[in-house]
Parts: sequence; structure tokens; C-alpha cells
Amino acid sequence: MSLFKVYPLYEMTPSHAKGCYVFDKKGNKFLDLYGGHAVISIGHSHPNYVSSLSNQLNKIGFYSNYIINDLQEQVAKKLINQSNCEDYELFMCSSGAEANENALQIASFHNNKSRIIAFKNSFHGRSNAALSATDNQNIKTKLNTKIDVTFLKFNDKESLIKEVSKSDVSAIIFESIQGVGGLDEPDTEFVKFLRETCDKYDICLIADEVQSGFGRTGDFFAFQKHDIKPDIIPMAKGMGNGFPVGGVLINKKIKAKFGMLGTTFGGNHLACSAVLSVLDTIKQENLLKNSKNLGEYFKNKLSKIKSIKKIKGRGLMLGLEFDFDAKDLRKNLIFKHNIFTGGSANKKLLRILPPLNITEHHIDMLYNALTIELE
Ligand SMILES: Cc1ncc(COP(=O)(O)O)c(C=O)c1O
Repeated sequence: MSLFKVYPLYEMTPSHAKGCYVFDKKGNKFLDLYGGHAVISIGHSHPNYVSSLSNQLNKIGFYSNYIINDLQEQVAKKLINQSNCEDYELFMCSSGAEANENALQIASFHNNKSRIIAFKNSFHGRSNAALSATDNQNIKTKLNTKIDVTFLKFNDKESLIKEVSKSDVSAIIFESIQGVGGLDEPDTEFVKFLRETCDKYDICLIADEVQSGFGRTGDFFAFQKHDIKPDIIPMAKGMGNGFPVGGVLINKKIKAKFGMLGTTFGGNHLACSAVLSVLDTIKQENLLKNSKNLGEYFKNKLSKIKSIKKIKGRGLMLGLEFDFDAKDLRKNLIFKHNIFTGGSANKKLLRILPPLNITEHHIDMLYNALTIELE
């Protein structure tokens, strides 16, 4: 094999997928409660998605951002309307890291400052500023020490005030529910305090919705639970249901300038057709409501298993916490029960990030498998 090995791979090769199932080359069928890392929002090979992308490919797949792309305008209109983010404008890119990198760059353009405040256990992606704002020394190099980032604990108002009073903070970036970190959330009171503090000290508030956006938590964006408006909203994963697409919603108080941002691939015609089909399907199938309801069903059902210490998260962004390392359990779920789940930086936690149109039956399948493994 001549691949640069950065992933410890599970021994299975998918051949095709449909809805919330993935099939391997040996003919095995797996229940996908991982969604390829929170990416599959409307289900694998959804008919709306397949027809939208194939129709578009037969017309035009790509052209440069230096001519009008009316599909980007359609995406902006639909997204802003469906997410209830009327005071925002859209810039499209191709991944979550790129969305966060752009967000941090926009903040610095806007207030001409550079220090970033991020939070313990955060994950914001693998580009330089995004990685600098990520709290994981194992994946950083000296390159990522050039950007000035201070990591604080969620809900620690005192330290926040101490840091922002130095008047050099450009952006505060936070996840409303930490994905890779293990499903921890700040309190509403603290999130509202972040908003007030950013207003007071001319700091841009960035709500990283790369993993939690597009209905995953039952709200269109996870920050909406706290009834605040961030200045910048980076998003990706569920936005394209597997097509590599990301974007940033930018509050209209921040003004665009020609040349300020740019990308070759971001927002190309195919990417837009993927996003449009995702938005339409979320609406047609009422997936925000399904995510909320199924999240509740999940919590009620799984709380019957005694060895689960805590159920974290909201909607279909969930975590099961145990008092032991969950690595072997995750392996057994795949190879004995044909169920994909996710891990996290918290080794005792299993992450559940299924397509948003799963049903109670799929949750019961996990319940039954866990009962066999644990009880
Ligand atoms: C909250 C959050 N931000 C950013 C990223 C980076 O996204 P990408 O891998 O698309 O660059 C991730 C990926 O897991 C994420 O969970």
C-alpha cells in the first residue's frame, strides 16, 4: 500500500450505501449511526440528492468564482430563510477547517486585532488558524504556535473578563456542543455573556456549526437554543450530505471588500446542487422535528441500560458515556452487530451521529446490541 498512513483503519470496504445503511464488498449490511462523522444528513444516496447532482453534472459541474453563479444565490436565499438568519450573507468554501479559517480571517479584517479565545477540548479543523484554536497538542506543530490563542473553560466568566480586558482579542470561537471533544456544552447564561462581552469589547463571536449545524441538534443551528446571534457562523459537514462543501454566514454589520476572501472550488455548481437538495429534503421530510423527537426517544430508551453513566448532547448529536474505555465496545458494535458508531477525544464516550431521517427502529437496534454487550 502506498498511502500515507494517518488513519488507523477498520477492516471493511464499503461498496454502496442507501438511507442509513452501508454495505461492504462482502455483502454485509451495516447500520450507520455515525453518518461518516456527522456528514450524512439526509441519508446515503437520497433520491433528491442523486437526481440534483446528476442533473447538475449534465449541465455544468464547475466554473470559477469570477463569473455569476446563480446557484450560489439560490443557496444563500434558501439557507438564510430556512435557518432564520435573515441578517446574514453567505460565503461558500469547501470544508469545515476552511470555513473556520475564513471566519477567523474575517474577524481580523473587521476589527484589526489578532488574538483568539477558544475553549478547552475544542476542535476547529486542520488549517493553521483553525488548528491553532484547537485544544489538542498531539496534532499541532510549531507552525501552530505563531497565532496567539488563549484557551478558557466553558462557563468561566472571570477568566474571560480578565483576557478580554487586554483589548487585543479579535475573535471568540466556540462550539455550542463540542463534537470531537465529547459533547460538552456551555450554559445559556455563559453564551449570552459571550455575546454581551463581544459587543462591549469589539470582538467577533464565531459559533462553529461545522458539526452541529444543518438540523443535527433539532434546531437548524445549535446556538439557536441560546437565543443569541453570533457574528460569524461557519458550517460544513451536513450541508452537502457527503459532497465537500462548507460556508460561512456573516452578519451584515461586517462589510465585504473585493479580494478579502477567495477560493477556487468553493461554492461550485455541483456543491450548490448538493446543498439545495439537502435544504429541500430537510424541509420536505421535517428533519429538524425528527432529529428533536428521535433524540428524546434515544435518551428515554438508552437510559434503561444501567452501565451507561451519562447520555450527552441534543437531537441526533449524542454521546453515551461509560466508566470504561469504549474502544472495544465500538469494535464489537461494528463487527458483531454491524452498527457504526463514533469515538471522541473522551475515550469513555461513544458518539451517535446518524442520518437525520432514522426511525425508532434503528435506535432499538442499537439498544438491543448494547443490551447484549453490556447487561
Ligand atoms: C466543530 C468542527 N469544526 C471544524 C471541523 C473541521 O471540519 P473539516 O474536517 O471539514 O475540515 C470539524 C470536524 O470534525 C468539527 O467537528
